[in-house]
Amino acid sequence: MNMQIQQAAMALKVARSTIALTGAGISVESGIPPFRGRGGLWEKIDPMKYAHIDAYERNPAEVWEVLFLGLIDVLGKAKSNDGHRGLVRLESMGRLQTIVTQNIDGLHQQAGSKDVIEFHGTFASMSCMTCGQATDSHQVSLEVLPPRCACGGVLRPDVVMFGEIIPLDHLQRAQMLASTCDAMLVVGTSATVEPAAYLPVIAKRSGATIIEINPEPTPLTDRISDITLLGEAGRVLRALVDAVKHILRD
Ligand code: APR
Repeated sequence: MNMQIQQAAMALKVARSTIALTGAGISVESGIPPFRGRGGLWEKIDPMKYAHIDAYERNPAEVWEVLFLGLIDVLGKAKSNDGHRGLVRLESMGRLQTIVTQNIDGLHQQAGSKDVIEFHGTFASMSCMTCGQATDSHQVSLEVLPPRCACGGVLRPDVVMFGEIIPLDHLQRAQMLASTCDAMLVVGTSATVEPAAYLPVIAKRSGATIIEINPEPTPLTDRISDITLLGEAGRVLRALVDAVKHILRD
């Protein structure tokens, strides 16, 4: 692993611009379960039945009962971890510019990251499905489900549900950054959900070095990733930050 950490550190040193694509895996060490694999949320809850916009339009109260109440509870308790903090340190060393995250937990911002594209939205706010008014989730009472807007309309969390498209500004900016970066860190994603999973492919085709961090191989490993650091994000990013710090001093 140490050789690969050195290679990754060198790639980050020489890169004029680096972005990171992150997934649920970077928040596992904050106590938020991933979606897939052992202990994954979708092993217990069918995402097409409860995380699809059609399900929310059909029966929002049920989606709250089965999925969102549990999620909001776990997200409310979660604190950023060494993985998130490692990316903040790379940013402060000028070795990382932007994070494109699939996570809806806000932990990158909580750790101090400045430029975060929330590709799948956020649980931090909710919008009315009738008047469109947005409200901070902390101000929404969950005593009555589904929660309601002052206009009487049903509120929905500002997350991208299955069956919905990625907000165009986020999609365009993420694809532009992927096509112009010299290096991309891909941290804690199974790389199975499009269009996020295609961003490393865009970057690779544009000549970027792809550095993957995950305890398990993914469809990117050996196909798209140039360097694969097999391990948990917290530990690997601590080691990578140290290696970058040393290499910048040389
Ligand atoms: N550090 C790094 N990676 C980890 C860790 C860890 N400590 N623990 C698990 N992982 C890896 C797993 O091996 C897996 O490859 O994180 C990945 C999590 O994959 P998913 O659960 O599929 O999460 P993600 O890729 O973010 O899912 C994409 O799917 O369900 C939708 O909208 C949801 O944003 C989500 C999208």
